[in-house]
Amino acid sequence: MGVLENKVALVTGGGRGIGKAISLALAAEGADIAFTDIQFSSEADDLLTKIKDFGRRGLSIESDVRSLSSAQEAVDTVVKEFGRLDILINNAGITRDNLLMRMSEEEWDAVIATNLKGVFNYCKAACRQMMSQREGKIVNISSVVGVVGNPGQVNYSASKAGVIGITKTLAKEFASRNIQVNAVAPGFVDTPMTQKLTEQQREALLSLIPMKRMAKPEEIASVVVFLVSPAASYITGQVLCVDGGMVM
Ligand SMILES: NC(=O)c1ccc[n+]([C@@H]2O[C@H](COP(=O)([O-])OP(=O)(O)OC[C@H]3O[C@@H](n4cnc5c(N)ncnc54)[C@H](O)[C@@H]3O)[C@@H](O)[C@H]2O)c1
Repeated sequence: MGVLENKVALVTGGGRGIGKAISLALAAEGADIAFTDIQFSSEADDLLTKIKDFGRRGLSIESDVRSLSSAQEAVDTVVKEFGRLDILINNAGITRDNLLMRMSEEEWDAVIATNLKGVFNYCKAACRQMMSQREGKIVNISSVVGVVGNPGQVNYSASKAGVIGITKTLAKEFASRNIQVNAVAPGFVDTPMTQKLTEQQREALLSLIPMKRMAKPEEIASVVVFLVSPAASYITGQVLCVDGGMVM
């Protein structure tokens, strides 16, 4: 029996990359999984099949994290289909990198709307259900860049630092309601997001990692599972860097 038997989890941007790995890791521990994405690829069908192979229920919901009403609809669908919502993973995110001198207003707005407002939207949409259940776990996917900054990512680092602010504030707002809110800050993970980097950018990033390799998405997912499991019942408001030693 897994540590998340009969729990219901919702993962945003769960169709591929880290979100897909998180969905699978939660299902492997016994949770039913709803995952959203703005646009699904064939990877989402593969994910649904794998969730069912674990003997769990799976549900894919097309939803844009930038819209509060779409977030509320997604949460309502999960509660209607699965009867409850125990775990929310705010994972959806994008990059639109540029040096500040060249960054357009659109690049700034797109990243803030998805990475920062998206987390606000889903926390707001989910909290009433979690409060009525008198328990809940929220994990927000930030980034080490939100802790230490990175040239060319002023929009992304601001959004990910903002996610840490949301995490700490909601941890305090929800502590008495038995809802724990934590953040995971990955370093450099091998996903479609980083596959678009040039060889030169990759080499530069790898030189900053004491462990001298990228993370596999599964190495982020296992930490998320820990944070939503009973083993982490007294942890809230924390930011766990999973980064091969980049930030210490
Ligand atoms: N890959 C890394 O090195 C790395 C490092 C630190 C943090 N992160 C964070 O981890 C999370 C997952 O990243 P990833 O590497 O798996 O990226 P990815 O691009 O592979 O996956 C992100 C998913 O989010 C979805 N998405 C984008 N905009 C959306 C929207 N408006 N509404 C709903 N879904 C949307 C995408 O369609 C995609 O399926 C992101 O928040 C990212 O910022 C990634």
